[in-house]
Order: sequence, then structure tokens, then C-alpha cells
Amino acid sequence: MIVVVLNGSPKGDRSVTLQYVRYLQKIHPEHDYRIFPVARQIGKLERDQRAFDAVMDQVADAAAVIWSFPLYYCLVCSQYKRFIELIFANGRRDVFRGKYALALSTSIHFFDHTAHNYLQGICDDLGMNYFGHYSAEMYDLVRTGERERFLKCCENFLAAAAAGIPTAPRYPPLRPGSFVYEPTSPRGDIDPEGRKVLLLYDEERPGANLQKMIHAFAANFSGGVEVIALTDVDIKGGCLGCCRCGLDNVCQYEGQDGYREFYDEKVKKADIIIMAGEIRDRYLSSRWKLFFDRSFFNTHAPTLKGKQLAWIISGPLGQLPNLMEILSAYGQLQQANTVGIVTDEVADSPQLDALLGELARRSVRLARQGYVAPGDYLGVGGMKIFRDEVWGRLRFVFQADHRHYKRHGFYDFPQKDFKTRGVNLLMCTMTKFPPFRKRFLEALEKEMVRPLKKVVADK
Ligand SMILES: Cc1cc2nc3c(=O)[nH]c(=O)nc-3n(C[C@H](O)[C@H](O)[C@H](O)COP(=O)(O)O)c2cc1C
Repeated sequence: MIVVVLNGSPKGDRSVTLQYVRYLQKIHPEHDYRIFPVARQIGKLERDQRAFDAVMDQVADAAAVIWSFPLYYCLVCSQYKRFIELIFANGRRDVFRGKYALALSTSIHFFDHTAHNYLQGICDDLGMNYFGHYSAEMYDLVRTGERERFLKCCENFLAAAAAGIPTAPRYPPLRPGSFVYEPTSPRGDIDPEGRKVLLLYDEERPGANLQKMIHAFAANFSGGVEVIALTDVDIKGGCLGCCRCGLDNVCQYEGQDGYREFYDEKVKKADIIIMAGEIRDRYLSSRWKLFFDRSFFNTHAPTLKGKQLAWIISGPLGQLPNLMEILSAYGQLQQANTVGIVTDEVADSPQLDALLGELARRSVRLARQGYVAPGDYLGVGGMKIFRDEVWGRLRFVFQADHRHYKRHGFYDFPQKDFKTRGVNLLMCTMTKFPPFRKRFLEALEKEMVRPLKKVVADK
């Protein structure tokens, strides 16, 4: 059976994820594996139609496709995202239709689920028979049990493809709206009060709703809004995954393009940041993905702490809860406050005018208050993964993170809370005695709320 492997790592042959494929290849040499480094060669595939078509021809010949990729910022890397965009832009969905798909990733399990949700949506859009995903932790392959688990998944996948088992799509096709925004001129009376307002968008599409939304939003301010297109930022290429930034936050591209200066001088110095973009397949554009991936020179340290972050999005975001989760996680992990998200999924233009106006007003008000909403499961849980990884196995690679985490009290391990440990020891011992246990259970509800009641009573 021909199995096409679409290697989504910018590292090409040196990809960690690809080693899983190589292992499968060794154990099951009876299949014909054709591996294409589509992320690494994205420039060529963009420029050279013949090279792109050659990959598509191979997919057409295959019975099974393995999407093999590393996690990058809750998704695939910008190069792989671009490859997916090229499939749709070139009208090549036909070659994927009916092929069996397995999504294989390696990561530290930080938002691996959102990447897999995304890729499953893409497989559904391509009419593939999506078998499932395998989300490996980077070094699972070195463990005997994990290797066995991985093989079982692959063997089931290959058997399913050979047998042509039935599969069902999970994600219905997106229904793009037909609303055309006709903005009215706002009063332009919002004073940013000396704060820097930065509006970033991915590309100029005159006459598109997004362009009108950007202008209408900015026109709410009496001045001081800087609007920058990401296409105007000098970005030489996507993150290469080399992790050289881990020691001192110095990117391999340093001195070769303008990304670092742009991020340090514009993004980090803004007080209110508005990110604007159109939905492209089931995410934003690959240009936006490039912006996020390249910001990895900051590694796992938040760089937008205390800033107000808002999103202006054109397209069916309401049908993409996965993307909403990614946007929410981004703000939280950056320790910024997400002011809100305004889309063009509205009843009419006056409603959109009002929403954009309110977004502008609220971003200034919350900046004045210094308000940052508390994190939820995404931010709190995500940060624990980073904390443990940076303190542990990743520390020698990401030394800059370790310094940052130490300096800013990120190492809030519960083992260090000696008071709680003492209470736990005492209570765990005492509750072994039946009379105390009985009294404990009777008083539990009342005691749980006691410290909170005290705060209310003292007010
Ligand atoms: C720019 C960048 C972003 C990353 N983002 C994530 C992430 O969101 N979640 C995660 O678990 N790992 C993330 N990682 C870690 C990689 O997914 C992981 O190291 C992977 O095994 C690399 O695979 P590869 O060698 O096949 O490229 C990121 C790494 C880089 C360089």
C-alpha cells in the first residue's frame, strides 16, 4: 500500500516526529512510504507549481496519508499551514478525497488537542476518511511501552485503510456569511490618554469587510492608533524550530530580518494591541501563524503582560470554537487581558459600528484600570505544563525561561507550600480517628466557606 507522509516539520529529516514514521517504516516495510518535507520546502512549493503538483500526484496514488507534524503555538507550524492553504488555493481537494488519514504529532502536550481538532477539520474539508490522531510526547519513542502503543495505532490505521472501513466526518463544512459591512463615520472622540494603540492585520484586501472594520475601529479614536500590515514587516521566513533562542532569546534570524526589532519596538511597547484577520480555512492566515511562530524567540515567557488585547475577525469564527479556544489561550498565556472579539457575524452595519466602538472604548477603560481577567483552565493548566517542563527536562535548552520563571515566581510548586503540607499531615492523621472523622464531616461545609465569610463580614 502506498502511504504518503506529509512531513510538517521545518526541520525536515531532523524532525523528531519523523523518527516515529521511520520506526513504523522499519517495523512494517511491506508498505511503500513516500515522505515529502512539505514544511521545509514550502518556499519551493509556493514558487514552483510543478513541485507542488508532484506532491499532489503522489497523494493521488496513495491509499493512506500520514500528516506528521510538530505542535507550534497550538497548531501546526506556519509553513505547514501555508501548505494546507495551497491545497485549497490550487483547487486540489480532489486528490485527498477518500484517502485514509492519520494525524501524527509530537509535542509537550501543550494544546495538542487544538492542533488535532484543526487537522481533523481540514481532513473533513478535504473529504478524507479521517481515522484518528496519535499525539506523542516528544520522547515517547524511547520507551518500550509507548513504542508498542504507537505501533498498535499505526497497525490499526493501515488495516483500516486496506479494508476501507467506514468513517464519519466530525466537522460540518463552514458556512461563510454574505454580510457586507457599510460603516458609518464614528465620532472619533476616544482619547487613548497617551497609551500606544497598535493595530496589526495580515494583508491588505481593499473593499473586504476586514479592511472596513479596521478603518472603522481606528476612526473611533481621536488619534494615536498605529496600523501595521504584517505583510509590511520584514520577515524572512518561518520559525525553523532550531531552539537556539532557548539560551538567551537570540533568534537564528537575528540580523537577517526585521522581525525582532518589530516585536521589541512595536508589539512589546504597545499598551493596547488589536489583532485583525480573516478566517482562512479553519484558522487565521498563515501570515498570522508566521507572526506567532516567530515570536518563539521569547520562548515560554509571556511578553504581553498587563496589555489589553482585542481581536477583529472577518469570517465564521462562531463556527470555530477550536479557534476561539486558541485565541483565548494566547491572551492568557501572554498574561494579557482579552478585551473582546468582534467579528462580522452580525445582523447589520449599525450593530458592527457599535461593537467596534465599544471595543475601542472598553480597551482604553480597561487599560486605565490595569484590569487583567483571571485565567481559566486554558491559562492555568497551560502554565503548569510550561512550569514543569521548564523546571524539568527542558531547562538546559530553555535557560532563559528558567531565569525568567525563577525571577518572576513562576515556580509555584505545591510542595513548597509548607503551611499547607503541615495542615495536610495533621488533618490526614486526625481523620483516621473515627470521632474526629465524624466531627470533621459534619463541619466540612461550614469550614470550607469560613475564610470567605470572614472577608465578607469584615467589609
Ligand atoms: C515555535 C515552536 C512552537 C511550539 N509550540 C508548541 C505547542 O504549542 N505545544 C507543544 O506541546 N509543543 C510546542 N513546541 C514543541 C514542539 O512541538 C516539539 O518540540 C516537537 O516534538 C518538535 O517536532 P519536530 O522535531 O518534528 O519538528 C513548539 C516548538 C517550537 C519551536
